[in-house]
Amino acid sequence: MYSNQVIARDVPGLDIKSEIPLLEKKGFLQTQVFVPDRLRNVNPHNALEAGRSLALTTCSNCHSLSSTGMRPLANYFGGNTDVAMVQTYLQGALGTGNTIYMPHIPLNDDEAYALARFIVSLNPSPQPVVRTAAAPEKE
Ligand code: HEC
Repeated sequence: MYSNQVIARDVPGLDIKSEIPLLEKKGFLQTQVFVPDRLRNVNPHNALEAGRSLALTTCSNCHSLSSTGMRPLANYFGGNTDVAMVQTYLQGALGTGNTIYMPHIPLNDDEAYALARFIVSLNPSPQPVVRTAAAPEKE
C-alpha cells in the first residue's frame, strides 16, 4: 500500500488484492469513503472543490497543498495555468504509473479535469521549476 492509502498491487500470501482495477473502473470520488456526496460527480460548480478533495486524498500525503511544507504540489507544475495540459499530464504520467517515486494514480476524465482545475488554481508565486529526476536540468 502506498501512503495515499491505495493498495496498488496484489499481495498473494496475505490475500490482499490491488485496488487499482476498482479505481480504474469506478474512480476515486465514487469509491473513497470520506468524499462528501455532493462531490461524487464532477460538474462545473463543484469541479474546484472536487479537485481539492482529490488532491487531499491522492497527493497531499506526499505533496503539501500550500506553498510551504513538503514538496509543495504547485511547484511541480511551474505555474502552468493550462488546465488541459495539466490534465493530460495527470492522465498520461500518473494515470499510467509512468513516474519514478509516485504511485500509479488512475484518474478518470472528470477527476483529472477537477484535479487539474485545482492545481492550476494554486497558482504559485513565480519561482523556478523544481528539478526532478525525470527531467534533470543541464548544469
Ligand atoms: C507516495 C508519495 C507521492 C504521492 C502520493 C504523489 N507524489 Fe508526486 N512526487 C513524489 C515524489 C517523491 C516526487 C519527486 C520529488 C522530486 O523529484 O523533487 C514527485 C514528483 C511529482 C511531480 C514532478 C514530475 C516527476 O515525474 O518527477 C509531479 C508533477 C507530481 N509529483 C504530482 C503529483 C500529483 C498531482 C499527485 C496526486 C495525484 C502526486 N504527485 C502524488 C511523491 C508522491
